[in-house]
Amino acid sequence: MEYRYSGRMANLNGTATREIFKLLGDPEIISFAGGNPAIECLPTARVKEITNEITSSQDFARILQYGLTAGFPEFRELLAEYVKTAGINGAKTENILVISGGQQGIDLALKTFIDPGDVILVENPTYLAFLQIANSYEAVCKGVDSESDGLDLADLERKIKKYDPKILYCVPTFSNPTGKTYSAEKRKAIAEMTAKYGVIVIEDDPYGKLRFKGEYIPSIKSMDKAGNVIFVSSFSKIISPGNRTGVACAAPELIRKMEICKQGTDLHTPNLSQMITYEYLKRGYLASDLERAVKIYGKKKAAMSSAIAKYMPEEFECTDPDGGLFIWGKFPKGIDAVKLLPEAVKRKVAYIQGSVFFAEPEGTENYIRLNYSYANEEQIDVGIKRLGDMFKEQIANLKGRK
Ligand SMILES: Cc1ncc(COP(=O)(O)O)c(C=O)c1O
Repeated sequence: MEYRYSGRMANLNGTATREIFKLLGDPEIISFAGGNPAIECLPTARVKEITNEITSSQDFARILQYGLTAGFPEFRELLAEYVKTAGINGAKTENILVISGGQQGIDLALKTFIDPGDVILVENPTYLAFLQIANSYEAVCKGVDSESDGLDLADLERKIKKYDPKILYCVPTFSNPTGKTYSAEKRKAIAEMTAKYGVIVIEDDPYGKLRFKGEYIPSIKSMDKAGNVIFVSSFSKIISPGNRTGVACAAPELIRKMEICKQGTDLHTPNLSQMITYEYLKRGYLASDLERAVKIYGKKKAAMSSAIAKYMPEEFECTDPDGGLFIWGKFPKGIDAVKLLPEAVKRKVAYIQGSVFFAEPEGTENYIRLNYSYANEEQIDVGIKRLGDMFKEQIANLKGRK
């Protein structure tokens, strides 16, 4: 059978992360590749307790029935309160859409706005799966330069004028892949500039609560006066990725459009998943679990930073995040982290080549992303030593060739 695929499939490949996941079945491989929360941070006992209560309650049949596309009303009400933790005050139920993870929020926003050929601005580098989703809607992604405290505002304005983009996508707090956070000043400037030029902002915030150092900074959405910012957050990294729940907060008109798009995607987020997250938040479990998780991530990040200082070549430069799950690193030009990945896997350690996070990847093969949440501290030390040995050999070869 010759299958007659849609034209958009020509640009779509499985993401590098998903391909790497297939390798991770080998227990000897130390993985810095994924973005999984630490297994010890998953609240198994509390979710079991909640699930047992839900499944033995009188109105369990309600959970087995179809639900409303926008989500359970009591959950939406609670989420309108919850977004205050990102500085978003005054949200009402009509500003809230329950989503099946942040990934779906991104997908629904693009489904709402993007026609083939529309331009989306993204940070250089950005979340790999965002590029995939944009590709599936046949958008054209253009990269905006990045500085240590967020987007380069001059480059952003230049590219808004040049490309007339419909959307700016960004991860302003503990970005994937860099771990960087935008300053409050930059957030305010982004809110103002995008409002002035009529650009929609998708503010993706799956990591904002995972701060182990430094000061909290309010979201771009909290500075949105024009109604052009769609805030997307997720419970994947702070409760459970397998439970697939998240929240989108935007102007009621946009929420209504995304809700219509969601009808065609999954009708609604599974009722059991919604009720688990709802009860977990209502019972106040998040604060104590987060406090513990953040301590664990802070320690793992410190273990990775010190292993990098000990074992990586001195030419390696990397970020020093205050939260989130990732360190982003750069080798000198000539080191090809794309080609070296199979060699690393042979040495039983995995990272992600940084080039996959760029809208325009030419010349970016010297970057890598390292995840520190999944491996334990001992594995972090052993794994970074394996990487350090490999890259030191490569740098010595490179110098020998010059
Ligand atoms: C920046 C970013 N956005 C969105 C997601 C999607 O997560 P989920 O759909 O599980 O909320 C991830 C997951 O790693 C991410 O890193």
